[in-house]
Amino acid sequence: MLIKVHAKIGDLGREKADGVLIPLFEDHGELCGSFPQLDKATADLLCLLVKRGDFRGERYKTFMVYTHDPVAPRRIILVGLGKRDEFDLDRMREAGGAGFYYAREAGLKKLIVPAKSVEVDGFSIEELLEAFLTGGILRTYQFNELKTNDKPSRAMLNECVVMSGDRVQRESIKQALRRATIVSQAVYLARDLVSLPANKKTPTILAGIARSIAKRQGLKCKIISEKEARTMGMGAFSAVGQGSREPATMIILEYRAGCNYGRPIVLIGKGITFDSGGISLKPPDRMEVMKDDMAGGAAVMAILQATAELQLPLHVIGIIPAAENLPGGKAYKPGDVLVSLSGQTIEVISTDAEGRLILADALTYAQRFRPQAIVDLATLTGACVVALGDYVAGVMGNNESHLTRVKIAGEKSGEKVWPLPLWEEYFEYLRSDVADFKNVGGRAAGTITAGMFLKRFVGSAPWVHIDIAGPAWLEKDRPYMPKGASGFGVRLLMQLLMEWQQ
Ligand code: BES
Ligand code: ZN
Ligand code: ZN
Repeated sequence: MLIKVHAKIGDLGREKADGVLIPLFEDHGELCGSFPQLDKATADLLCLLVKRGDFRGERYKTFMVYTHDPVAPRRIILVGLGKRDEFDLDRMREAGGAGFYYAREAGLKKLIVPAKSVEVDGFSIEELLEAFLTGGILRTYQFNELKTNDKPSRAMLNECVVMSGDRVQRESIKQALRRATIVSQAVYLARDLVSLPANKKTPTILAGIARSIAKRQGLKCKIISEKEARTMGMGAFSAVGQGSREPATMIILEYRAGCNYGRPIVLIGKGITFDSGGISLKPPDRMEVMKDDMAGGAAVMAILQATAELQLPLHVIGIIPAAENLPGGKAYKPGDVLVSLSGQTIEVISTDAEGRLILADALTYAQRFRPQAIVDLATLTGACVVALGDYVAGVMGNNESHLTRVKIAGEKSGEKVWPLPLWEEYFEYLRSDVADFKNVGGRAAGTITAGMFLKRFVGSAPWVHIDIAGPAWLEKDRPYMPKGASGFGVRLLMQLLMEWQQ
């Protein structure tokens, strides 16, 4: 459940809540005297514990103090921001994450954040609060949908009020909180979809979910069935689907602001609901995690939801080729030659390199919308995890300025991307004796050859490919990310879209 966040004017002593959350730098001189009500409610203990160094404000360390004033909230939670000269918005998200997590574990249901406590030189109060609350909301995500006996019994942290004394400031704070809520809700949606097991998110079920999102948000939704796709000539996409009894679906969601008649931005997300590898079967160890192979598709669905909810002045189309990669009796095989929608032929070397096949037809299909730009998000290669780990995604493309925009959005949102080259020499690895090219180039430069493969299906539109195989799924908790599905790509591309200039 999403924590409700809202802004109120007034005195923090007057609002009923279980606790006040205050972020502090390591050189926190400013706490003493900043909140006279809290100093009073703690008989100056708050001031003292900071002065004496019991709480030093180290990065995401927390400390709780009780108040003895019946009017003030009962608890004050301090959370460290680390050193001032190392500060950036990600520190703010981390502090929000650590603070909210601590509050939830301590059994608090409602928190107050004084707007005044998040002031930092060089940053606006709105961006600081947006980051702090986003971190808090993201950290407290849980996926309990399929548990019947192990649900947390304690009532959960479900509300946070930002108190500001300034009426004018409140309006802009409200907007910041609205963005934080809508984007975090989209991340929750993406995580929910990725966390669902494959038997509960078949391509048909995903299409149904897309339809209901479309209905709720007033989006256009079109579903191309596997059969239709085959008739249309999508020989690469339909081949991947044919090994499963669950038919593949190509999901298309369209958002267009009333005033926007411009060419669309097309977002494509890999939607393999389970990747067994097909006939080129994967080893069994950790195969269950391959339910996350639709993380790109989940992010694209979530992004369309948030774009519509924020009413961004854009025209955005999401395409999610969804299929289950299984080794059934009708499955495609190594050695098969597929005719893609573009007409180019592909020799299948590994049925486990299925992502690029479904994306190939989706990229060709995207050309029909005459896009001004294309971005695809895909858990595409294990090689990308080897190269970059699970903190950042790999990024490739055919247009420097589009790539730069994505890179900047990554730095701002904290969902970082790092570039790899798509030089033509790399295409040599994909040469085939029987078809136009192969779907696998061997072990060398695995992420780049996958990118080179995709490049063959992109027209002239500026295109960026983001390989999210690493960061889509986390093995360990992070300061503002619980382990498991991360929702990576949602905040990155929302940042890109919110700043898009036609
Ligand atoms: N879905 C996988 C990529 C992947 C691997 C994502 C590990 C997350 C973690 C993809 O379909 C795949 O199997 N790729 C192969 C390509 C190879 C056969 C060229 C890979 O990376 O091993
Ligand atoms: Zn695969
Ligand atoms: Zn895959």
